[in-house]
Amino acid sequence: MTQTATALSIDAKTAIAEALNQSVAETAVTTMLAQNFHWNVKGMAFGPLHDLFQKIYEDHFIGQDDLAERIRSIDAHADGMLAGMIKRSKVAEHDGHASDKDMIKMMQDAQETLAETIAGCGELAAKHGDTLTEDLCILRGQVHEKFAWFLRSHLA
Ligand SMILES: [Fe+2]
Repeated sequence: MTQTATALSIDAKTAIAEALNQSVAETAVTTMLAQNFHWNVKGMAFGPLHDLFQKIYEDHFIGQDDLAERIRSIDAHADGMLAGMIKRSKVAEHDGHASDKDMIKMMQDAQETLAETIAGCGELAAKHGDTLTEDLCILRGQVHEKFAWFLRSHLA
């Protein structure tokens, strides 16, 4: 049965908030990764890659906000500590010393990881009847798979 925020049980809210916080953490780490690559990418494709990495971090900055605000909408705590985000994220930071191709591959991997994490969050929300969280996760997951395609196409 479909449940809105007020009808969700405490256990459901706790489980969904945990999955959403994981999604926020990985989105935030990938935001910084994209900005780092935007700054440090080199090579003949500098212009389009500089722009693509910017599109990614601008999208992710809004995305992490939407996910965190959904956590607050179900009355749970949004974890906003960078150290905690880095610790739990399946996407790792990088120092930005890499070739353009390696940056593209790392960002593709990050997008695929994010799509998987957020699809899992949507599945969990659906299990609890939380259609509105599920919907947000579907939207965010589609964005990550689109960016994964953009990046993958550079390496074909
Ligand atoms: Fe910039």
